[in-house]
Amino acid sequence: MKGIFPTDEVKLGIMRRAVFIAPYFATTTLRFIRAALSLDGVRLALVSHESTGKIPGDVAGRLGAYVRTENALDSISLERAVRRAAEQLGGVDAIVGAMEELQLPMAEVRASLGVAGMTVDVAKNFRDKGRMKDVFRSAGIPCARHAVATNRAAAEAFADRSGFPLVVKPPAGSGARSTFRIDGAAAFEDYLDTIPPSAETPALLEEFITGEEHSFDSILIDKKPVWYSVSRYLPTPLEVLRTPWIQWAVLLPREVDVPEFDPIRAAAAEALSALGLESGLTHMEWFRRNDGTIAISEVAARPPGAQFTTLLSCAHAADLYRGWAEVMILDRFDPPARKFAAGAAYLRGQGRGTVKAIHGIDRVARGVSDLVVEAKLPVKGQSPSGGYEGEGYVIVRHPQTAVVERALREIVTCVRVELG
Ligand SMILES: Nc1ncnc2c1ncn2[C@@H]1O[C@H](COP(=O)(O)OP(=O)(O)OP(=O)(O)O)[C@@H](O)[C@H]1O
Ligand SMILES: [Mg+2]
Repeated sequence: MKGIFPTDEVKLGIMRRAVFIAPYFATTTLRFIRAALSLDGVRLALVSHESTGKIPGDVAGRLGAYVRTENALDSISLERAVRRAAEQLGGVDAIVGAMEELQLPMAEVRASLGVAGMTVDVAKNFRDKGRMKDVFRSAGIPCARHAVATNRAAAEAFADRSGFPLVVKPPAGSGARSTFRIDGAAAFEDYLDTIPPSAETPALLEEFITGEEHSFDSILIDKKPVWYSVSRYLPTPLEVLRTPWIQWAVLLPREVDVPEFDPIRAAAAEALSALGLESGLTHMEWFRRNDGTIAISEVAARPPGAQFTTLLSCAHAADLYRGWAEVMILDRFDPPARKFAAGAAYLRGQGRGTVKAIHGIDRVARGVSDLVVEAKLPVKGQSPSGGYEGEGYVIVRHPQTAVVERALREIVTCVRVELG
């Protein structure tokens, strides 16, 4: 990899200098930062919006440099900060960050500084979902019909062609925010009146796919797939958001190397190759339609959110936070074998207000406590997130998939988070 200001240590391949971009220090972000700090032969700098006082002591003590920036999502500010970090490190070989919105600005900074890693064109393929689906279509990868509409007439033309139901979403959204299923012409006209698509705020419209939604999380090194995992969403995030009483769950079956997943393994490899990724951990979402065929929904060139990296770590008895850091900074990965099934149940407040009480947790604890590996229970007074991840989670694992699936169902049916 080419870096600026290469030193002899680096030329000899002894030391790699990496800049980690983390606008804020969320719990998960800190896990990735600590993982990067644990790698041998890496000197790490941190770029953040946070003041130095907010850096946990164990992290601060191991950093090669720290640079505060006012806006890490703006490539000009980010470049300034990365240059300062690189000066303190004596150069930079890798620029990394786990957040979705950072992927394009980081690629722009890599381009100006001549640092290897995901390029601007490739980052755009991942960030712009309309462009991503164009790439998929021209590569013959199964996906929903789609159109990006910048005005009402274009949106109506898509609905005429594709029919209902359809899905509307922002072309660069996340967390399923502003993503809606529209079932008929009247609801569509209401939507167009309320959130009219324009050149400034285009809408991505998609054929609605009916089926089971899954993820396909995988690692590529030098364009070769080296590891993957499949999870199943119970039910789809969109269904969860449309139905306030549903608490979401995700199941990572123990068995992934099975014929049932042959089609997604093949399509995912083609999709990542068509998008142009060379190395990285990606989080793909896909459907199995009721007729058995598959469709890729989208893919992000970053680790998954919603505690998935913990789930992946549990299912493989390995540290996938560190795995991601190794891929991104050292361009290498030792693929761990799947040893367990794992799953997460997301606890979601019911009603209005803030968290008032959690019911049923004692009853569940008696049945599944041996399976629980990590939990974050909602706390009294907590404001609801409004998202499908809810207010807390319980992560379970066991060698048998059926046991994990039963535990998840028990948790989401017995535990009730009361808002008031
Ligand atoms: N074409 C489609 N057909 C059926 N359901 C869809 C379709 N597109 C999106 N969805 C549903 O809406 C959810 C959110 O859509 P999408 O993943 O594109 O948005 P997102 O904002 O990236 O969400 P996230 O950050 O949760 O992945 C999906 O997980 C899926 O349940
Ligand atoms: Mg998604």
